[in-house]
Amino acid sequence: MTRELGIELPIIGGAMYPCSNPELVAAVSEHGGIGVVQPLSLTYVHRHDLREGLRYIRRLTSKPIGMNALLESSSRVYRERMERWVDIALEEGVRFFVTSLGKPRWVVERAEQAGARVYHDVTERKWADKAIDSGVHGLIAVNSRAGGHAGPKTPEQLYDELASLGLPLVCAGGIGTPDDLIRALRIGYDGAQLGTRFIASTECTASDAYKDAILRARDSDIVLSERITGVPLAVIRTPYIERVGTRAGPIARRLLRGRRTKHWMRSFYAVRSAIQLRKASIDPKSSKDFWQAGRSVEGIDRVMPVAEIMAEFRAALRTEEGRGG
Ligand SMILES: Cc1cc2nc3c(=O)[nH]c(=O)nc-3n(C[C@H](O)[C@H](O)[C@H](O)COP(=O)(O)O)c2cc1C
Repeated sequence: MTRELGIELPIIGGAMYPCSNPELVAAVSEHGGIGVVQPLSLTYVHRHDLREGLRYIRRLTSKPIGMNALLESSSRVYRERMERWVDIALEEGVRFFVTSLGKPRWVVERAEQAGARVYHDVTERKWADKAIDSGVHGLIAVNSRAGGHAGPKTPEQLYDELASLGLPLVCAGGIGTPDDLIRALRIGYDGAQLGTRFIASTECTASDAYKDAILRARDSDIVLSERITGVPLAVIRTPYIERVGTRAGPIARRLLRGRRTKHWMRSFYAVRSAIQLRKASIDPKSSKDFWQAGRSVEGIDRVMPVAEIMAEFRAALRTEEGRGG
């Protein structure tokens, strides 16, 4: 994985809506991993035109960066915009894509023409098989401890399901400390994708209240809520989450299941959640204690510069190598 992506440490700074600000993405790459741009975050939350934003990151680091492409959407407008974004990223020298949901074949086809690699987020074997049919070059195994849209399986279960597929396998979920990383590598993973650890960094522009909540939370404080995007999303249990509950209301549930209404409902949720998450996560004046995080919160007890976070991971990897791991 490190050879293929041209990076020093087997660590991906996962795309995060709305927390992936360009300075954070650049810092992860600059210090030996690979930061992944979340294009909606870059444009809508952090107010850069995509091409200009990518060039800005390029000025902060000359190391490889990646871009996330969320593919599932029934909207033609969204699909066309994503195609344009992928083309712009390729023109601007991005050579790594993390795709989620949907069929990544068109991304793989465009990426391969430029010699770029595509890793797909999967939560189960059936999605991995589909991604491999589309020609992806690696799999990101999103487990039940992950921030964002967590999967149903433990890191060990997912490894057992996916290891025989023969592609680089990245563990996503629950990695907040060097020990967590070493544990994932000992299971057999080639690398790790981290989200929550990088929110609690100096470079991340999430609000201080959000970062403090990550430092305070234990893994048992992480709950899955379907009220935000319509599918379960890992959030910190706070008074606000307790008040609104974690299940979608009966009408929303029916509309989300309906063959004709589900696409409309998902688009509605996508727009509403983009607005709500931006405000709650970034705006220092937001009164909503509504924050996404994974179970990796357990080991995160300090806001640190990305350089220090990566130095700790680098040291642990060296010790493990010294042991012959
Ligand atoms: C706040 C937040 C937002 C996220 N947004 C996205 C996203 O837009 N696209 C995506 O593919 N993954 C997203 N993820 C998942 C991360 O890229 C990564 O896989 C996950 O955070 C790993 O789990 P961890 O948080 O325990 O490290 C998000 C995660 C978090 C915590």
